[in-house]
Amino acid sequence: MPQCHLCGSECEHEAKYCAQCGISLNDSGVAQVSPEWAATEEFLDLSKALSSTLDLHLLLRKIDDSAVRLTGGTSGSIMLFDENKTSLHFRSSSGEKASAVRSLPVKDGIAWWTGQNGVAARVDNASESEHFTGAIDKITGFETENLLCVPVTLENDVIGVIEVLNKTDRTGFSEQDEQLLSVLAGQAAVAVKNARLATEQRNFFDHVIEIFVMAMESTLLVPEEHCWKVAKMATAIGRQLKMQEQGLQDLYYAATLHDLGMIKLRERGIVEKNQMESHPILGANMVRGIDMLNGAESIIRHHHEYLDGSGYPDGMVGREIPFGARIIAVVEAYQEAIMDTGSQLIAEIRIEEGCARLFDAVVVDAFLKLIDLG
Ligand SMILES: [Fe+2]
Ligand SMILES: [Fe+2]
Repeated sequence: MPQCHLCGSECEHEAKYCAQCGISLNDSGVAQVSPEWAATEEFLDLSKALSSTLDLHLLLRKIDDSAVRLTGGTSGSIMLFDENKTSLHFRSSSGEKASAVRSLPVKDGIAWWTGQNGVAARVDNASESEHFTGAIDKITGFETENLLCVPVTLENDVIGVIEVLNKTDRTGFSEQDEQLLSVLAGQAAVAVKNARLATEQRNFFDHVIEIFVMAMESTLLVPEEHCWKVAKMATAIGRQLKMQEQGLQDLYYAATLHDLGMIKLRERGIVEKNQMESHPILGANMVRGIDMLNGAESIIRHHHEYLDGSGYPDGMVGREIPFGARIIAVVEAYQEAIMDTGSQLIAEIRIEEGCARLFDAVVVDAFLKLIDLG
């Protein structure tokens, strides 16, 4: 008895549809995915990708690949306008000549016409179209026979186009292909919108961080430029140790704000040395509840912990200490030693001496390599 390859149920030889999942069966009784089902699967997959990542390059590439698969084209691309709308730029391209077109700005031709007018173009014979220039074909050696190009529109503004070229069966693209490509154009617009919102949010947040740094420096308990120096060196160590993007972002925010608690100390008028040791807890409490700083909170709290348990505030030992905090501990100690002694060399020696007992050897190793590189 044949099996449906989608849901695995056994199907009757004579049946036209799988009784379990309802997809059509071919002549030999083996289940096959209908074009509608294939499109549904692609759209579900894209929807999942859109809600799980903000990586615009990756999303546009996925949408481009789906466009080629679903319409039966041999190549496809997504182009977006530059800021002043003077040209379209390839943000994704697939197919045989994909790498050859990527750096080419588009200022004429059918894609340009679609982008300018916000109207889809379905062309069965490219050489007969009044808008076809063949300019890109001349550079890449590709031969465009038929094509389908749809505008990508965001809030009534055309921001780019998505196109597929040369349908494999040479009949030209259908109305159904145009509908599918229009849905994919909508998903490309959502991807662009999400990426823009994330950039705006990040820019806003970076300004807030700058204000925090100014507030810390104004207490006179944090030396000028200290926060930026620690952030720069800590993230360089993180990169050297191949930390993941999210970990690096948490490390950057934690390093920039590691001494945030000094603001609270100054507010209370407390500057005694033993009371200064509460600044990691005060700082961590200040960022609690800010979503973008969730990963930074524990790093801020533990940036003065040492491997042997002699640090503060919790006397954590070894790997109990968050990795980002172990990185900041090294950079913080180095910066403090430079301030104490005025000598970079003595500061380096202090870090080397503290290796294994106070500091994570892997972090110290990466730190010394960075110092050597200058
Ligand atoms: Fe510090
Ligand atoms: Fe500190």
